Amino acid sequence: MTALVRTRPTGWTIALACSAALIIGATAIYAAYPDPIDGIRRVIRVTAHTSLTFFLLAFTASSLQRLWPGPATQFLRRHRREFGVTFAVSHIIHAIAIIALIRSDQALFWQLSSIGNIIAGGSAYVVILLMLATSFPGPARWIGPRVWSVLHLYGAWFIWISFMVTNGKRIATGPGFAIAVGLLVLAASLKIAAKIQARRGATPY
Ligand code: HEM
Repeated sequence: MTALVRTRPTGWTIALACSAALIIGATAIYAAYPDPIDGIRRVIRVTAHTSLTFFLLAFTASSLQRLWPGPATQFLRRHRREFGVTFAVSHIIHAIAIIALIRSDQALFWQLSSIGNIIAGGSAYVVILLMLATSFPGPARWIGPRVWSVLHLYGAWFIWISFMVTNGKRIATGPGFAIAVGLLVLAASLKIAAKIQARRGATPY
């Protein structure tokens, strides 16, 4: 006799499903363009925005749950690590597409980028990869809770700044970038509001 076991998707199921969707989506976008350079550029752009979406989910999860406790915010808080890992996967696809652009058309790459971008963006990638590696129990134990907290607190704010700069400098080119900057400001405000509420809650009357 077969026992029916009720299961719900685990966090890693969510991260795997979202990452698979990102990989399939990026491949489909690339394949949809007759000119491979157009396909690569579209993948770079789309992943910049999918990365922002998953980053914002992970970045605001705890604050949202503190400010508005409920099933939806609890779900976000419980799975924030998986949203963070999916953000890293999305940004790794951004990096793979950038490498493809460098290999296919170096002159175009240098029209779109600069040494300053590479240093700033490269530093963000170092932080993203360190945060990704320490999102798993073994490396997290290895660095210890103090270093982990410092890395994930300052790392998240460093990535927030990277998104502010990369979207902010493009505001004049389209309304989507202004929306992205607005969402980033809102996310930072939520974090500050949640911190203030936590302090108030901790203050003895
Ligand atoms: C060494 C690292 C990086 C390089 C070389 C790089 C390169 C590029 C290039 C060439 C584009 C323009 C693509 C095009 O117009 O066809 C682009 C777009 C973009 N990148 Fe990156 N990037 C890097 C890291 C990052 C990081 C760390 C972030 C954010 C945290 C980021 C966010 C963006 C955004 C928001 C766009 C605009 C997307 C759009 O036009 O819709 N990039 N990147």
